[in-house]
Amino acid sequence: MDKLKLGVIGFGNMGSSHVRNVVAGKAKLVTITAICDIKEDRRQAAKEEFADIPVFETAEELYKSGLCEAVIIAVPHFDHPSLAIKAFDAGLHVITEKPAGVYTKQVLEMNEAAEKSGKVFGIMYNQRTNPVYAKIRELIQRGELGTIKRVQWTITDWYRCQAYHDSAAWRSTWATEGGGALINQNPHQLDLWQWMFGMPSKIMSFMSFGKYHNIEVEDDVTAYMEYDNGMTGVYITSTGEAPGTNRLEIACDMGTIIVEKNKIHFRRNEISEREFERTRTIPFGKPEVWECEIPVGSNSQPEHMIILDNYAKAVKEGTDMLAPGKEGINGLTISNAMHYSAFTGKWADLKNFPHDEFYELLSEKIKTSKPKTTVKEVVSDTTGTY
Ligand SMILES: NC(=O)c1ccc[n+]([C@@H]2O[C@H](COP(=O)([O-])OP(=O)(O)OC[C@H]3O[C@@H](n4cnc5c(N)ncnc54)[C@H](O)[C@@H]3O)[C@@H](O)[C@H]2O)c1
Repeated sequence: MDKLKLGVIGFGNMGSSHVRNVVAGKAKLVTITAICDIKEDRRQAAKEEFADIPVFETAEELYKSGLCEAVIIAVPHFDHPSLAIKAFDAGLHVITEKPAGVYTKQVLEMNEAAEKSGKVFGIMYNQRTNPVYAKIRELIQRGELGTIKRVQWTITDWYRCQAYHDSAAWRSTWATEGGGALINQNPHQLDLWQWMFGMPSKIMSFMSFGKYHNIEVEDDVTAYMEYDNGMTGVYITSTGEAPGTNRLEIACDMGTIIVEKNKIHFRRNEISEREFERTRTIPFGKPEVWECEIPVGSNSQPEHMIILDNYAKAVKEGTDMLAPGKEGINGLTISNAMHYSAFTGKWADLKNFPHDEFYELLSEKIKTSKPKTTVKEVVSDTTGTY
């Protein structure tokens, strides 16, 4: 198959990393045919590093150039939906960076535009390629775990120091980023959560804003979730703890799964707890437990490049996508629901999520948001850190 001609919108940390990886041959099915950035210094950097790739000042000019079949949108989150909608209108396929957007209302519009356009819409949920989470999902779908009772994910190793928050004017304010740890670092885990366990029906959450950093958005979150089938979940994240933890614990009928340090440990019950409960006649005791290490494979390409190749194949040959763009709304709804609950002190109902009310609440935050006074712009190669 011919390589997919891809344009890159935004030549910052992520956009430049994508270009570097593709040009280095780490994606097999993609070629970068245009770049655009609204900042002169970033356009200059692109021209110096990639002299053969045309560089544009605006997304609109790149869209009109006829050089690309598809674009990847790698600009700050608020603009993902509007730039995607314009690209669909220009007849282009789109893959957007995470998160899908900042609030569900704008992402619903993007999904509608994608649907109407008939173009291929993907999202850069590169962590779906992590063999550990793919394996857990497979085990759940195969019924190996039985009913899931409780899931706890402590993901506090997203440490970001003040220099990070100050590295671009748009970072970590309500007006320019629209949130903190939930909207920037956690979209991957919130997507994986719904990808593995499905969508909760309601969420209550508690969070602190600027507890560890000089920022106005959240840097510490604890959320409790309930599911229609009785499963409960606790999700804890912070950008202010070091070294922090990334530990996912799943209590299920067949035992306990612990995911830590990229390994899956299964404390497997010989018989399911529910069966033991029904059949045990002696007080006390537990099912016999087998301590198992579940083998997981490894990737031969960087995660982001797997997603790009998979997306290119979907465009060219109509194959299924690992990360369809329309699924971006799910993780974002969980994220918005956590904010909604913290803003109002009420449960967030995800089955009837109040998209308009959430947008109004966020708009209030945006109105009183203050520009940062400590910005020291830095662009760095992010490969391997997300
Ligand atoms: N998938 C991942 O692992 C991953 C990792 C890092 C960042 N991201 C996502 O990528 C996006 C960008 O993050 P970043 O760290 O690269 O930010 P960044 O600030 O380093 O880069 C953004 C670039 O976009 C440019 N830009 C802004 N508006 C534009 C527009 N309308 N048209 C063209 N260019 C425009 C800016 O000038 C800047 O150079 C964010 O949404 C972030 O969440 C994803």
